[in-house]
Amino acid sequence: MKLELRGITKRFPGVVANDAVDLVIEEGEIHGLLGENGAGKSTLMNILYGLYTADEGEVLIDGEPVTFAGPGDAIDAGIGMVHQHFMLVPVFTVAENITLGVEHTKGLGLLDRRSAEAEVHRLSEEFGLPVDPHAVVEDLPVGVQQRVEILKALHREARLLILDEPTAVLTPQETEDLFRAMRSLKESGRSIVFISHKLKEHKAIVDRISVLRRGRIVGTADPATTSEQELANLMVGRPVGLTVDKADRETGEAVLAVRGITVLDARGKPAVDGVDLDVHRGEIVAIAGVEGNGQTELVRAITGLDPVAGGTIELLGRDVTAFGRKELLRAGVGHIPEDRNREGIVGDFTVAENLVLPMWDAAPFAERGRRRFGAIAEVAEREVDDFDIRTPSIHTTAGSLSGGNAQKVVVAREFARPLDLLVAAQPTRGVDVGSIEYIHRRIVDKRNEGAAVVIVSSELDEVLALADRVAVMFHGRLVGPFPMPVSREAVGLLMAGATPDEAMGATR
Ligand SMILES: Nc1ncnc2c1ncn2[C@@H]1O[C@H](COP(=O)(O)OP(=O)(O)OP(=O)(O)O)[C@@H](O)[C@H]1O
Ligand SMILES: [Mg+2]
Repeated sequence: MKLELRGITKRFPGVVANDAVDLVIEEGEIHGLLGENGAGKSTLMNILYGLYTADEGEVLIDGEPVTFAGPGDAIDAGIGMVHQHFMLVPVFTVAENITLGVEHTKGLGLLDRRSAEAEVHRLSEEFGLPVDPHAVVEDLPVGVQQRVEILKALHREARLLILDEPTAVLTPQETEDLFRAMRSLKESGRSIVFISHKLKEHKAIVDRISVLRRGRIVGTADPATTSEQELANLMVGRPVGLTVDKADRETGEAVLAVRGITVLDARGKPAVDGVDLDVHRGEIVAIAGVEGNGQTELVRAITGLDPVAGGTIELLGRDVTAFGRKELLRAGVGHIPEDRNREGIVGDFTVAENLVLPMWDAAPFAERGRRRFGAIAEVAEREVDDFDIRTPSIHTTAGSLSGGNAQKVVVAREFARPLDLLVAAQPTRGVDVGSIEYIHRRIVDKRNEGAAVVIVSSELDEVLALADRVAVMFHGRLVGPFPMPVSREAVGLLMAGATPDEAMGATR
């Protein structure tokens, strides 16, 4: 299908999310959408999928104008979408999720489970998207859940597939698998709109790139002939630094001392298995690892979200093993959580309220039982400015922010208070290159000011750029930390379970 958007404009209170956007997506094309956080990418795609109605402009399919009253109409027209946040029913099986709403029925409304499952099987074979139709969705890793979303769209006969930041939550291997499936979808004549903040990915998979800035298309680029630096400059509108400046620094006392901690998963098995870790003032320890090796649980334990089953955690010599989350946050621990929607922001609260969340009932934001709105607003305005949070105002509810801007609210908040320890999990997930540059600079500043910093990231580039020492989680155990420089290859080998000798030896 050939799809054309003409003069699409969409306004929200206080912001023009899309401003007279023209865009053509050819049949059998993978079209990249690139743009800063809040540039209007998701909004434009939500219009195309019938979730939002444009204030102006039209959509044409194969030259014919179409109007969508809802996603049902878009689906009927052959458009499928995989959202930034998945929309599956967690307690249903893969097959149930895929066939939900388009169940095969035998005559009198009896569900024909068998033929639905056969169809799912056929699609998954054809496009290289392996899933177990009987598996319950909530038990599956995100990469597989995403395949389910894609299969669901294909089952509804999508000819054009919108993938909104599909790789943000994927491991490098899962990304490779997704790209392979995308190529075979393209070969079948389907079109794909691909949204990602990772410039490398646009260069690897996309045929043509359209760049959005503040709601407008500012250019198109050929990924084969445009460098990452040129792409970054085009989307941000100024030169962007893609590397981190970090001077050597003396380290100080141990801020965090973890001794032999064990954390159990929901089934009672050790997800973290006897981990020791010291982190000192003035250093960044980066923890790499393939998702699911215990790094999430390790962070949850040291930030007071989950109890430990054994071992101790000390903060500046004080035993904090039994501290709850609030106590820890007030004892000088900052946390940028991996799941910003669950632990990071409160969607119904305003941007300002979210920016002072852990301190809302303490000075200077509250005094003698009264909230001090002036103090809250002052801090909020400054943070919005410093972190370039694109929001109509500090009184806007955080739930209406774009994905990357919501992440910036969480990051800004944790930087706004004095910290001895900063624990940052996937701090730049979903964040645009300009803001990654800024967040990385602020993390290095925190370290330079004498905080101890722990970063958990599945982005090897980020790990290698920020780490003073690097460790790897594998099967619940921590290998390292090793002082930098450690090569990318060595970290990769450790992530795959090699011993330190094997990993370091192989690359010397
Ligand atoms: N439902 C909504 N209500 C109010 N404002 C909204 C809504 N959805 C989006 N916006 C605003 O529209 C603008 C564009 O947001 P959009 O989500 O399209 O950005 P994006 O390019 O997808 O960004 P990101 O890379 O962070 O995902 C932002 O300023 C956002 O705050
Ligand atoms: Mg978005």
